[in-house]
Amino acid sequence: MLHAKIEKNVGLMAVLIAVAISFGGLAEIVPLMFEANATQPVPGLKPPAALELAGRDVYVREGCYNCHSQMIRTLSFETQRYGHYSVAGESVYDHPFLWGSKRTGPDLARVGARYSDDWHRVHLMNPRDVVPESNMPGFPWLAERPLDAAEIASHMRGLRRIGDPYTDADIAAIPDAVKGKTEMDALIAYLQSLGTHGPKEETP
Ligand code: HEC
Repeated sequence: MLHAKIEKNVGLMAVLIAVAISFGGLAEIVPLMFEANATQPVPGLKPPAALELAGRDVYVREGCYNCHSQMIRTLSFETQRYGHYSVAGESVYDHPFLWGSKRTGPDLARVGARYSDDWHRVHLMNPRDVVPESNMPGFPWLAERPLDAAEIASHMRGLRRIGDPYTDADIAAIPDAVKGKTEMDALIAYLQSLGTHGPKEETP
């Protein structure tokens, strides 16, 4: 009886189909929302400092994620090249996350501390000066653009509102932290911070 009623009512049937299909997704997603290793930061991870936060904004604005992922997969050829695979607790302060899926260039999840600041500066000005076969575009204008402390402060306040543990002292320290720095400096600080708190040991 009930069955016949549902089959004759397209709207009701569509709703019930959606409910039935949702169970699979819910069974996968809901436990992740409560599991500590997906919701808690890895030990030592802090939300990006003022300069790194500004650099992250430059990274997003310039579309670096169109060519670079920040997510090392659990495959041995990836872990051998990039280091330990990415874990969820490393992305707790990523708003929005920049895992990406397109890799014209290499994954950057653990690029922090791999090169010197000077290497990055030359590479970002003109990649072919250090990697002759590179097809990455240069971003020389970043070295001429000063940072705006007020903008970084309002961004930090916004992140605090959604739960990132920034303190008043962090916000008060922004003008000194970014004084005289360019967007290039900020982007390099951000790159140097990537993956520095993730799990270190190589997977067996
Ligand atoms: C059109 C694609 C493209 C874009 C956009 C791009 N890159 Fe690249 N990137 C590459 C390629 C290809 C390489 C590998 C060759 C090289 O090292 O230059 C690379 C390499 C790198 C490396 C060295 C990684 C390593 O492990 O050796 C860094 C760091 C980097 N890019 C940062 C950036 C940043 C920051 C931006 C945005 C400002 C950016 N890239 C935008 C394509 C791109």
